[in-house]
Amino acid sequence: MNILGISAHFHDSSAALCQDGVIVAAIAEDRLTHVKHDASFPLFAIDFCLEQGGVEPSELDAVVFYEEPHVKFGRVLTLLLANFPRSAMHFARAMGPWLTTHLWMKTIIANRLGVDPGIVSFVPHHVSHASQAFLSSGFEEAAVLTLDGVGEWTTMSIGRGSLNEAEGVELLETSEYPNSLGLAFAAVTGFLGFKPNDQECSTMALAAFGEPKYLERFREVMTVADGKLRLDRDAFNFMGDHSSALSPAFAKDLGLIPRALDAPYGFDIFADCVDAGCATDRAYANVAASLQARTNEIVLELSQHAQAVTGADRLCVAGGVAYNSVSIAHLIRYGPFREVYVPPDPGDAGGAVGAALIQAHRAGAIANKGAMQHPYLGAGSQIVNLGAVLDKLDLNEVPPPPVEPPGDYRVEASWQHLPDEADLIEQTAEELASGKIVGWVQGRSEFGPRALGNRSILADPSDVDLARRISRHIKLRQPHRPFALSIAEEDAAYVLDLPDGIPQPARWMQMVVPVLPDARERVRGALHVDGTTRPQVCGKSDNGLFHALLSGFRQKTGLSALLNTSLNLTGLPLCASAPEALVMFWSCDIDTLVINDWILRKGTA
Ligand SMILES: [Fe+2]
Repeated sequence: MNILGISAHFHDSSAALCQDGVIVAAIAEDRLTHVKHDASFPLFAIDFCLEQGGVEPSELDAVVFYEEPHVKFGRVLTLLLANFPRSAMHFARAMGPWLTTHLWMKTIIANRLGVDPGIVSFVPHHVSHASQAFLSSGFEEAAVLTLDGVGEWTTMSIGRGSLNEAEGVELLETSEYPNSLGLAFAAVTGFLGFKPNDQECSTMALAAFGEPKYLERFREVMTVADGKLRLDRDAFNFMGDHSSALSPAFAKDLGLIPRALDAPYGFDIFADCVDAGCATDRAYANVAASLQARTNEIVLELSQHAQAVTGADRLCVAGGVAYNSVSIAHLIRYGPFREVYVPPDPGDAGGAVGAALIQAHRAGAIANKGAMQHPYLGAGSQIVNLGAVLDKLDLNEVPPPPVEPPGDYRVEASWQHLPDEADLIEQTAEELASGKIVGWVQGRSEFGPRALGNRSILADPSDVDLARRISRHIKLRQPHRPFALSIAEEDAAYVLDLPDGIPQPARWMQMVVPVLPDARERVRGALHVDGTTRPQVCGKSDNGLFHALLSGFRQKTGLSALLNTSLNLTGLPLCASAPEALVMFWSCDIDTLVINDWILRKGTA
């Protein structure tokens, strides 16, 4: 049975193909169009999934869209009219896409794919989220907590998942717009000068530089009672732009004005405060810390309520708020559940997976275990005749990196074909141990935003200068943001203060973990100022080749830990294909690139 899931038209459009109960392909549109968070109808992603599954559109049994457009349009129209005439500009912008495309998804999908409209159906937004989390978890029974910005109307849901029930996932309790933890977090993110719905990770990172001095105020305006989330309407305004998402009254309580978008902070993960503006910056960091603390509390309170109403001892978490690795860690450490699972992409891109999986379950075609046990579901790294391509390239015709190295700049490069895996691991580990920054491209790309060893930039985490180079010259991002750490399963207990066992979220960089004091200098480049890191604990069965590389690095240095950040330049999505990685290699300050069994080395003369 072939079922195609689609998400589109808000952000991170994507497609996923489920064949006989197993997800065989899933990819966000932006990986193929290079437009970050691309919200357009995911034609490229659909083509990729069908090709990967070896099926024609005519062979699809069902196509499922991840939300109900008519219900969502009702919410959009209600809010625009309720806020008229203040919403006049929004009204003019919103009506065009809704009236020409968004409302007619059944027809559009049927026409674009050339399938019978009768096989196209819709799943409520939160059912898609919850289904992705539960049906990919491998659990037979579980509570499901979904927290996001907003779907149709729902912003939070508590549900029960059961493989033994025909429906699969049942939503038991919900909260509705505007009572949204995701929108509140985005509003504060905008207030702090970061881009809402994109740079929430910057807010999380900033929180580590502050104290939760405004926590009581956040408790007053963001409350939970009887499993319902409530926001104070006088504190939040979701109809304006980022500068007014927090009301002037709430901003006055905080004693701050909205910060300009992208205004830099004077914090550095390696030096804490680095300029004279830190006193003011610290006040904003205190706001971030207060929001983060309240978010931790709300996620914990709602999960406790979920446990009470379901009686389950396992929990699946979905929705954009599940990207908050600090709150997930808090929930795992202090919550009532034996196991917690977060899918590889809990956000709206993952909704395509959920829509396909719930349809498969209802058709009796879901695989109990193994519906989605790894995140490597995207584009492959194959490149035809890479050696011939490299021989024809003149590297000096390639523009220099945005931040040029000093001296007489001239690219010198060489490449080797290493078909023997042991040689490839040995030489890549040697590059890393000798202080090189390495791009690593292997197999299929990750579904979701985390680079888990197939599309990564890697470096020795004990060398702070390498981390600075990556931050300043490659990623061009604010220095208050930390890097993640990959470590082989066998060494995890020597470095990480993990809860009992290795929680699934620690395998996919979905929770922060304290680093043991004695190990901190060894991984300083991937350490946040609060002594935590966001790990990928990698076992052989998670990613055999990457585990081999970590082990190879241990043979050189004594520890299998690597700084790991996603292979992309700022403003662009993760590199999906090998040619993209080649272009990136020659346009930034990466020293070495490994694509499949080829190793390319770059230097200057
Ligand atoms: Fe969502």
